[in-house]
Amino acid sequence: MPSLSPLQRARFDYMPRLPRVFRMPIENISVVLSEATEPMTDQNRLRELFPFTYGAPIAKFTEGTNTSPSNPRKIGVVLSGGQAPGGHNVIAGIFDASKNASSESRLFGFKNGPIGIVEDKLLEITPELIDTHRNTGGFDIIGSGRAKLETAAQFEASLATCKTHGLDGIVIIGGDDSNTNAAVLAEWFKKKGSDIGVIGCPKTIDGDLKNQYIEASFGFDTATKTYSELIGNIAKDANSAKKYWHFIRLMGRSASHIALECALKTHPNICIVSEEVRAKGMSLDQVVDSIAGIIAARAARNENFGVALIPEGLIEFIPEIGRLITELNRLLAKEAKYFATIKNFEDSREWVNHELSKDSSYVFSSLPRQIQMQLLDERDPHGNVQVSRIETERLLIELIDARLAKMTLAKEYSGEFNALAHFFGYEGRCAFPSNFDANYCYGLGFSAYLLLSAGLTGYIANLRNLHLDTADWIPGGIPLTMMMNMEHRGGELRAVIRKALVELDGAPFNAFASSREKWALETCYEYPGPIQYYGDKAISEELTSTLKLEKGDLWRN
Ligand code: FBP
Repeated sequence: MPSLSPLQRARFDYMPRLPRVFRMPIENISVVLSEATEPMTDQNRLRELFPFTYGAPIAKFTEGTNTSPSNPRKIGVVLSGGQAPGGHNVIAGIFDASKNASSESRLFGFKNGPIGIVEDKLLEITPELIDTHRNTGGFDIIGSGRAKLETAAQFEASLATCKTHGLDGIVIIGGDDSNTNAAVLAEWFKKKGSDIGVIGCPKTIDGDLKNQYIEASFGFDTATKTYSELIGNIAKDANSAKKYWHFIRLMGRSASHIALECALKTHPNICIVSEEVRAKGMSLDQVVDSIAGIIAARAARNENFGVALIPEGLIEFIPEIGRLITELNRLLAKEAKYFATIKNFEDSREWVNHELSKDSSYVFSSLPRQIQMQLLDERDPHGNVQVSRIETERLLIELIDARLAKMTLAKEYSGEFNALAHFFGYEGRCAFPSNFDANYCYGLGFSAYLLLSAGLTGYIANLRNLHLDTADWIPGGIPLTMMMNMEHRGGELRAVIRKALVELDGAPFNAFASSREKWALETCYEYPGPIQYYGDKAISEELTSTLKLEKGDLWRN
């Protein structure tokens, strides 16, 4: 048994706060279904693909009579994809809600992600197990994995596993791709005449699984607070030593929500927002120019230091590199077998260069060798390039250094450029969930249980009004098909859940845009400090700036 830190022990005893309706006995919670729903686009194709689950109504929980309160349930739960703080609390929520309904209910965890369902690898979640994981980070209670469920054989095997163990339903805790999997599995089970329900839960530190019904994905709050603490500490160091430019790449996959939130919290000199780069069609040269311009302007004020935040997805959003990545994704998906036979980098580079279009081949050849290697790295199981492995911060430092050298010759810059590269991602994914994430996840677990016990399938659990006191959060469920659209993935047009990117007319970006010029030149860092779990609520319950601004808060510059 590993030894426990004092905070770990204290967190085991933290009692997450639930929305008002979930504070009632389960027999007094009823499910209300509203009108049928439709996705925003591709309705006909999605209706064809999901004939059994398409168009389901939105579900809400209110005080009333629960028609099946005390039936013991057997439920399976799976953690899918990257870790996000709060996963253990979703499991605790499902566990407690099901035991409140009937002490004979049982919860099983599939091991190591969706593959555990296919391979029938599961373990029972006992009171002892859950009590030593409550309110703590990590997915280690059952493990996680990125396997994608996509073949008929995998769906059949999943159904067989659920039947073998007499499960009433499963809960898939994951991001957009995993919830797409949940939708497909729910449809498959229905098609096979099974009543086993499938419910998703919105997990991802990236913050890109959100829409008008899903106000936030869990983990974003804790992860961005953790990164902001680190960025604040680095900014303090930069402002003390006054000799380094820190280039900090932040996780978040394609979307820049994490970088933007950290910028709103720490006021760095530079924060690139990939979505803006794409919208403005900025080339790599132009991105480099704009950063070098700020460095030169600060140098003119004798400030040869600074902090620059770089979203990890930037590389995909620079138009010429984005096109290159799309071509590479298609090529490597189509020629996967042949590509696997090429054993050394030089040969694969030559082959790729030959297969790419002339423009992309030119772009590929102009990149440093290290970046070329990272671009050819394995794709994830969903066919995406693994942006967390591409060291964009180092690429930028190299190119900016060269640009500043030219500017020096042209007498446009005189300063010292000493840059340090950082990458923050794994540091935040398993932090102890903030009180917000601990409460949110526990509530999501209750929602997931109640959706299943109401016999619903193909839904994602949700809680709304997250800017209000926890008691006033509104729990419910949203049909997954409603959040889908058709997109090119791995060279094919597929039904997937729409990823939410940063909206350039949204309140968080506008707030940033109104402050960035000042932050660029002046040194206005804000230091958020570490997450607080106890004490003054204004600090321990503070929401992300993203959520506050999206909910109508005014931005103070
Ligand atoms: P999910 O989308 O599965 O939540 O994962 C998020 C993430 O942390 C991304 O920000 C990052 O690009 C990726 O996972 C890293 O993947 P891995 O854990 O496989 O290294």
